[in-house]
Amino acid sequence: MLEAIKKRQSVRKYTDEEVTKEELIEIIKAGMRAPSARNRQPWRLVVVTKKEDLMAIHDFEQSYRMMDTASKAIIVLGDKDVQIDEFIYEDCACFIENMLIQAKEMGLGTCYCAIAPKESAIESFKNRFHFTDNLLPVAVVAIGYPTEDNPLQDRYDESKITWL
Ligand SMILES: Cc1cc2nc3c(=O)[nH]c(=O)nc-3n(C[C@H](O)[C@H](O)[C@H](O)COP(=O)(O)O)c2cc1C
Repeated sequence: MLEAIKKRQSVRKYTDEEVTKEELIEIIKAGMRAPSARNRQPWRLVVVTKKEDLMAIHDFEQSYRMMDTASKAIIVLGDKDVQIDEFIYEDCACFIENMLIQAKEMGLGTCYCAIAPKESAIESFKNRFHFTDNLLPVAVVAIGYPTEDNPLQDRYDESKITWL
């Protein structure tokens, strides 16, 4: 297994070190290598760089609490003009997982936070960032340098597999 996959974990506390635009581009490039249904690549991104916007997301709800220390965040939106709703979730999840692994490979920490299908969260993001109606905010990913590593569990579970 790739080390970055083995060692990736959600990080909810980050150091003061800034994540650079070059680092973000490298992470986004990895996301854009993801598979998508009919290769529609429906992901659209809003890169959040300002402290006041990160704090606004932090204040939306408890599940975004790590945004107070994150250096940057990437809002991942699905374009409903190019993809059906069900595939938007799958395509964006593939996109996000690639980003999480690339970030880990670069020594960065991330946390995947869902937005859709929570209506209240969708509204909070729409009100603050004014997305057009065709864009479904699927998730927001916090990015920063991790303060610490938590213990990792081996999740391999034979009972979840049927070998035919
Ligand atoms: C679809 C999805 C939504 C998630 N939403 C949140 C969230 O809103 N806030 C949060 O702190 N973590 C969120 N997580 C992270 C999970 O809590 C985390 O992946 C899980 O506990 C396993 O831990 P690990 O990522 O360290 O392996 C989400 C993960 C996924 C895949």
